[in-house]
Amino acid sequence: MISRKRAEEIIKGFKNKSVLVVGDLILDRYLWGEVERISPEAPVPVVEVKKETVNPGGASNVAWNISTLGARTYMAGVIGTDRNGEILEDLLKERKIFPLNVKDSKRPTTEKTRIIAVSQQLLRIDRESKERLSEEISDKLIKQIKKVIDSIDAVIVSDYGKGVITPKLMEFLRSCNKPLFIDPKPSNFSLYTGITTMTPNRKEAYECIKADREIPVEQVGKMIMEELDINTLLITLGSEGMMLFNNNKTVKIPAKARKVYDVTGAGDTVISVLALAKISGASWEEAASLANYAAGYVVGEIGTAAVDARTLLEIVQ
Ligand SMILES: Nc1ncnc2c1ncn2[C@@H]1O[C@H](COP(=O)(O)OP(=O)(O)OP(=O)(O)O)[C@@H](O)[C@H]1O
Ligand SMILES: [Mg+2]
Repeated sequence: MISRKRAEEIIKGFKNKSVLVVGDLILDRYLWGEVERISPEAPVPVVEVKKETVNPGGASNVAWNISTLGARTYMAGVIGTDRNGEILEDLLKERKIFPLNVKDSKRPTTEKTRIIAVSQQLLRIDRESKERLSEEISDKLIKQIKKVIDSIDAVIVSDYGKGVITPKLMEFLRSCNKPLFIDPKPSNFSLYTGITTMTPNRKEAYECIKADREIPVEQVGKMIMEELDINTLLITLGSEGMMLFNNNKTVKIPAKARKVYDVTGAGDTVISVLALAKISGASWEEAASLANYAAGYVVGEIGTAAVDARTLLEIVQ
């Protein structure tokens, strides 16, 4: 669906682009340990922690993907006035992501801690607020975005439903007249009218319009486009690849992965490559095809949630 020559031409353009990611930042924390015994206090395993790692997650994983692909990357979201907020900002800077985040003393930085032992996740502990941002914080965020918006080639909204994406913010982003890509939270569906495109996974697509599971995905896609008044939609289908809807044409793109280790974050890779390819001159079909190659690569790598421009070109056959 894309020749190597076209892929090269498109990927070459990535480094001259600027992308703004707006959304819910998450600090992903992993505690890696071993289980030797059951606790004397309760019938639960005791995990002896051997290693602790942190990664930028949620919207900041999209930013990480964009910056790994070589484009100038800005991240606008909200963090708390806590240690995790500082850690997250340091992680962004280390990854060459320019933070435009607003601090809110009334909410914690969203943190998801996984406890992993004997190669499996035993428990996840979330610290977060899902409350919608206050008017004051939301206005501050818009002010931050205004500082850079003129130099931005595309905006990606990564909505994890933690309150950053408000009606006012969406209205403002639409008024910027930049290509606007959304990774949606179905409960916020009504906010996404008039965008450029959206990349729900299958489950999210059905939830967006409360469609019955019996309805074929082709029809669900068309219903979404009609409701949002948009011409393009990409529904990701996990191991089945993706379905691109563009005007009246529907194209199924089969998955590329040869091996699968870790599928988390594949959706973030999809929207990152799709947006960068599109603003670098790709057709929708070419952009989706490149995004599918990239996702196929990241699901097959242990501990890799992003792909760089050179590797992306290498994996296009
Ligand atoms: N098991 C798999 N085998 C092959 N490819 C896969 C698999 N899972 C995901 N992919 C690739 O990743 C893309 C996105 O996957 P998926 O539809 O699961 O998104 P998602 O649910 O949004 O992921 P995320 O965990 O990031 O939210 C797919 O379109 C496909 O290209
Ligand atoms: Mg997703």
